[in-house]
Amino acid sequence: MHGWSIENEKLLSDIVAYTTARLRMDPPSLDHPDTEASLAKKTGQTITPGGLGSDEALRVFAEILAPATISTDHPRNLAFIPSAPTEAAIMFDLVVGASSIYAGSWLEGAGVIHAENQVIAWFSKLLGYPETSRGVFVPGGTQGNLAALVAARHKARAKRKAAGLPEPKRWVILTSAESHSSMAQAAEVMDVDIYTAPVSSDDPNWSSDFSDGDGRLTGRGLAKVIDALPEGAVPFAIVASAGTTNYGVIDDFVSLADLAQAKGLWLHVDGAYGGAALVAPKYQGLFEGIERSDSMIVDPHKWLFSPFDACMLIYKDASTARAAHTQSAGYLDIVNEDQSFNPSDYAIHLSRRARGLPIWFSLAVHGTDAYAQAMEETMAIARYAAEQVEKIDYLELVREPMLSVVVIRRKGWTAQQYREWSNKLLMQGTAFVTPTTNYGETVTRLAIVNPKTTRADIDLILGSMA
Ligand SMILES: Cc1ncc(COP(=O)(O)O)c(C=O)c1O
Repeated sequence: MHGWSIENEKLLSDIVAYTTARLRMDPPSLDHPDTEASLAKKTGQTITPGGLGSDEALRVFAEILAPATISTDHPRNLAFIPSAPTEAAIMFDLVVGASSIYAGSWLEGAGVIHAENQVIAWFSKLLGYPETSRGVFVPGGTQGNLAALVAARHKARAKRKAAGLPEPKRWVILTSAESHSSMAQAAEVMDVDIYTAPVSSDDPNWSSDFSDGDGRLTGRGLAKVIDALPEGAVPFAIVASAGTTNYGVIDDFVSLADLAQAKGLWLHVDGAYGGAALVAPKYQGLFEGIERSDSMIVDPHKWLFSPFDACMLIYKDASTARAAHTQSAGYLDIVNEDQSFNPSDYAIHLSRRARGLPIWFSLAVHGTDAYAQAMEETMAIARYAAEQVEKIDYLELVREPMLSVVVIRRKGWTAQQYREWSNKLLMQGTAFVTPTTNYGETVTRLAIVNPKTTRADIDLILGSMA
């Protein structure tokens, strides 16, 4: 099983051949899911005492499993938030796997952590954070948000303790009614409460006292929520979105930072999807005030052209995060006594893949200008999609897009019609576009993060809704 052999020599060339063919596909095959029963029948039992051998195991993957797995990088995959890694990032992911790297501690991973830190320093600068800010790559936005919120509560707890105050009845996260579902999950895991402000005029709870009704969370709206908190509920963090998942809305960081400052709250920005637009100077103005936040996440696997799974979590002052997240054990003393930067100390993890290396390599190869250009290309396609929707009589925009998510209403369609249309496009191998809801009404959305998505792709999808 271990040791280099003639069989491994052949397997290596088969893997390289498979990978090369996959990378050269333009476009890749979109593919679609299969049922559990059908897959079981096709694969048979693959885990056996004697093993299938590499030819057969690779055949099962290539002929059965891969076709039942959607390609997130297909240019007409505009569902959820897809992904569009550069070839350089994908190829370097193979190197990361081949290098048996432990990237939790400086002791074991100094070289690769240094490279990841350069990416984090680059992005921190775009955020307007000081040079002393620190961060870490975690698997995804859900975990990044959770880790930041745990750090925020740690700080609030320490502050209350120092002031001689007891633990509150309930700790509270404040956010928008449209922030990502991972916030509710973080609240569940942390056993804290979450209070949201309505931000859309389509929300029955909304009034102009909260916001302009355009989906942006404002300090004014959250102040109203704070005023109405029940007795014993104590907020510790505000979560703002730099690009909501469903609509691509960027919250009003300036007024939220004012509120956070006035109330002594941690301001966390969830830019898992939209924070990426900071790489293009043209769009930096959309993020005014983000530099006043305490922490921020952006997922390179979403709109920064990196493979799954990678979320960049950045703290303006990482000392609280370190206090909240460092694990102690006798066998870790040697790591903890070292004053070097240990990524494991900044989130909920210990062992860690060097998941920031694919984006590091790709950035090092292509340079940051290429990223800005790719961002502008995707934004231009999103703009084109919005303009076409406005021209087509059977379609309308649910909201004017701020980033590259375009939410569309097909006039007259029922929820069932959206589902049937979406399923047909997928099963035909044409496109992957899923329905969503806008305050109870089924609509659809295009999430454009792939520079290979063309105007013709958009025309094809919009035309299929006639
Ligand atoms: C704004 C936002 N935050 C958080 C997440 C969760 O990220 P992940 O799926 O990487 O856990 C998503 C996912 O789409 C997102 O769009």
